Amino acid sequence: MCGILAYSGKKSIKKILLSGLEKLSYRGYDSAGIGVLTQEKTIKIYKYAGHVQNLTKNLEKITIESPVGIGHTRWATHGEANDINAHPHLSHSGHLAIAHNGIVENYNTLKKKLISKGYTFQSNTDTEVLINLIDYIQNYQQCALKEALRFALKHVVGAYALVLLDKNNPHQLIATKKGSPLVIGIQGKEYFIASDVTPIIAHTNEVIFLKDDEIAYINHGKLQITNAKAVEKTPFIEKLDIHLEAIDKGHFPHFMLKEIFEQPQSLQNCILGRLNMLQKKLTLGGIQDHLPSLKEANRIIIIACGTSYYAGLVGAYFLEDICRIPVVVEYASEFRYRNPIIKSNDVILAISQSGETADTLAAIQLAKKHHAIILGICNVVGSSLARTTHAGIFTHAGPEIGVASTKAFTAQLMSLAMLALKLAHEKKTIAENVFQHYLLELYKIPTKIDLLLQNISPAIQLLAQKFKNSRHFIYLGRGYHFPIAMEGALKLKEIAYIHAEGYPAAEMKHGPIALIDQDMPVVCIATKDHCYDKIVANIEEIKARKGQIIAIVTEKDTHITSLTKDIISVPDTPAALMPMITIVPLQLLAYYTAIARNCNVDQPRNLAKSVTVE
Ligand code: G6P
Repeated sequence: MCGILAYSGKKSIKKILLSGLEKLSYRGYDSAGIGVLTQEKTIKIYKYAGHVQNLTKNLEKITIESPVGIGHTRWATHGEANDINAHPHLSHSGHLAIAHNGIVENYNTLKKKLISKGYTFQSNTDTEVLINLIDYIQNYQQCALKEALRFALKHVVGAYALVLLDKNNPHQLIATKKGSPLVIGIQGKEYFIASDVTPIIAHTNEVIFLKDDEIAYINHGKLQITNAKAVEKTPFIEKLDIHLEAIDKGHFPHFMLKEIFEQPQSLQNCILGRLNMLQKKLTLGGIQDHLPSLKEANRIIIIACGTSYYAGLVGAYFLEDICRIPVVVEYASEFRYRNPIIKSNDVILAISQSGETADTLAAIQLAKKHHAIILGICNVVGSSLARTTHAGIFTHAGPEIGVASTKAFTAQLMSLAMLALKLAHEKKTIAENVFQHYLLELYKIPTKIDLLLQNISPAIQLLAQKFKNSRHFIYLGRGYHFPIAMEGALKLKEIAYIHAEGYPAAEMKHGPIALIDQDMPVVCIATKDHCYDKIVANIEEIKARKGQIIAIVTEKDTHITSLTKDIISVPDTPAALMPMITIVPLQLLAYYTAIARNCNVDQPRNLAKSVTVE
């Protein structure tokens, strides 16, 4: 989704803003722009539809000298992706400019009022309404911009993160947020304000995560932060533990491929300090204090969106199986609007890679009103989710830049598996020897994935070539592999733009079987577990209708090998942990198919890495 970067300091503003916007582009966007001050004391905006490279090209021969500047990558919500709707936006008077993330939900009402006061608008955006509202209030009240901003936001319904430029105060930046993240990087008297840390870490690892309603005021190299009541606060400066290489592609052509191949390491990091094979112990420090309430939980409600939702489904199977606690999994966007029944002894488990997904955060707020305990599984330390939940598990997968989630997903699966095992052990619903067996199997997963990754790419590239022109795919799985079928299909849709549906294999007979003919590839996840014979029967049914079977099987499987040539073998592991392994070939199948179809893998059309608006 939209990205913000603003800078105050002595370095080349053009270089800092353009390279920073490039770094933000992984979030998904369709136009980019910057706003700076000129020697003539006016605000100059440069903004274009398309990639940041387009903006860079247009600025090639332009010299910019400005003590402060704001930049933005826009993911269109109100108004199509064109030059005019791109950010930053100027106020009607030309005195102010804004870069804004989020949605002003009541922008139409505000716009009508401003039109009645003589304001005119160039774009279709809610953002232009916001900057004119601030401009109007400042003129009307004859107050400082900071005060005008505070007053204006009282009239705004919605979520936002924003930075303002003021032509009358050329050394000043003002920023605030509500429900959408904003972080300030500090390097001496230089400041970077951004929607996430990716454009900041090249310059500094000292950051402040702005809280809702706080206003950051930077003037002549000094920073002041005030809270909603305009009371000055001492900023809490955190040291980031992220290295530059983590947001670099290294020798890989795409972030997605790099992140798929990072999975042995990211899973290792996820279990590090938690799984102790010498002492045969599993420790989840983040939730330790909440274990008593978890043990007594009446029900666990998992809320998440997208890929995180599918991780939740896998987790629910294992939690119910070994902890004997009822678990429901809900799309956060549905949960928040359907007046759900939440009791005080229910435990909410919110799962999110970014920790910034608007629907998941809103669902958490709703659950909080019902006094439920809220735990999180999250990848981003310092994110809104991490700060708003009572406790949780960080997945420690490292920054995930590819829009299609891969290593964060397997780390979520690993975290859920550890949670289920820890809880079952505490509740004594699992025998000690079974628990110990699982710990050993968990420990082996990174190595198994490593070996798998060393071998499978050539076979998957061939499959991608064979099926790259297919218009539809069906993915089938049973039990733990039903969610994996849906996640595999989602990956293909997201980056290869092929229509794909994931189904529980037995449901095939209730509809999808009508679609099967010689042109339909059907990916069957058919590893050896208690449903193996059932899925073999499904494969026979597909074969009888001439469907093109691609099977993911356990190594040394001889039966399915006799039914289709398109086979990917994976190492054996207990069924509950197998999804961490079987998803890997499906990630690669989506990746290589997208490459074979010349798709932009890391920035697929219309998608955003973190969906910070509804
Ligand atoms: C977006 C991303 C998906 C992700 C989903 C949920 O749609 O493109 O990859 O699964 O948001 O994001 P979260 O950060 O909450 O896991």
